[in-house]
Amino acid sequence: MQKEFNSVKSFTGYFRNKRFKNIIFIFGHKSFFSTGASKDFDIFLKDNNCFLLEKKKEKIIYEDLIEQFNKYKEKDIDCIISIGGGSAIDLGKFLKFFLAYKRIIFETEERYKKKIFHVVIPTTAGSGSERTRFAVAYRNNIKISLDNKLILPDAVVFNKKYLMVAPEYVKACSVFDGLSQAVESIWAVRATKLSRKYAFEAIKLYKKNMFRFLISKELLYAGKVQQAASLAGKAINITRTTGPHALSYFLTADLGIPHGHAVALLLKEFLEFNYTYGDKKTKKNILEIILCFSVKDIQSLCDLWISFMKKAGLKTRIKDILNVELDFKKALSRVNLERLGNNPVSLGKKDIKKIYLNIW
Ligand SMILES: [Fe+2]
Repeated sequence: MQKEFNSVKSFTGYFRNKRFKNIIFIFGHKSFFSTGASKDFDIFLKDNNCFLLEKKKEKIIYEDLIEQFNKYKEKDIDCIISIGGGSAIDLGKFLKFFLAYKRIIFETEERYKKKIFHVVIPTTAGSGSERTRFAVAYRNNIKISLDNKLILPDAVVFNKKYLMVAPEYVKACSVFDGLSQAVESIWAVRATKLSRKYAFEAIKLYKKNMFRFLISKELLYAGKVQQAASLAGKAINITRTTGPHALSYFLTADLGIPHGHAVALLLKEFLEFNYTYGDKKTKKNILEIILCFSVKDIQSLCDLWISFMKKAGLKTRIKDILNVELDFKKALSRVNLERLGNNPVSLGKKDIKKIYLNIW
């Protein structure tokens, strides 16, 4: 069971009694200062034996993971704290796993060698990484992932205040990541009754609060969006993501389009594709999504998605973001087959090409 704290103060109070010896304190290089978290943790950092790890890059690179592992492997780490967006949390998950096993390892059935307590403090409301058992990194721009229940964080600290100060574009990307994850988990091959319940709740919460969160400074909406992100995270923790995520890694790793924006671009295409070629069950799932968004048919849902993106300030075509031609051979080599296999309709090369061309 994950422990949950609703303020930094309640967390630091709890932490005082835990007496961890050696802590890795991971923080996002921008958000830690802009959110005011640096002040909140000032005394904490003085009182505890923390190794500071500043996460400077947007995505996690495999070679950096090895370097970090080597740096900390002899330090007898018993706690990791991640404060930041999805990748600061994921970095903590990787290090927890590697340090527990004392080697770089991606899959294991063995018992956990060493217990390392991982606390996460999200500063964005979208990745849902605080609720999931997987982490993503890149090796030669190809996505590699760790999927193991042992890396589900042990404790989460929610602090609405941190979500408010992110730049508008960052907020929009995180909202669309979470919203896309919720939609994908509904049609995912591995969907269950429980995952669908989480996902529909997440969509309703996003729909009602996301634009208020993007434009207003009221903490109430940040809290609602954080709740939505968490529900979407719980949903994909059960189902995993599908087509839009599978095709998004090329846009992020090679073109530098932020994850949430990349997924949002692709989601609309998959709504159409999965609805057109899906079996009865998939069509029924999408009809329920249509209903949940309070529109009348698939075309209206696709139009609504595009208008949501525009309203949130996200460009809806790649040519409007970057001046670059589609390198389909490269794009195809980056497609994540595992996630694509979780899409309810299988895709051939031609389908993938058509989808990329449609968003270009
Ligand atoms: Fe995502």
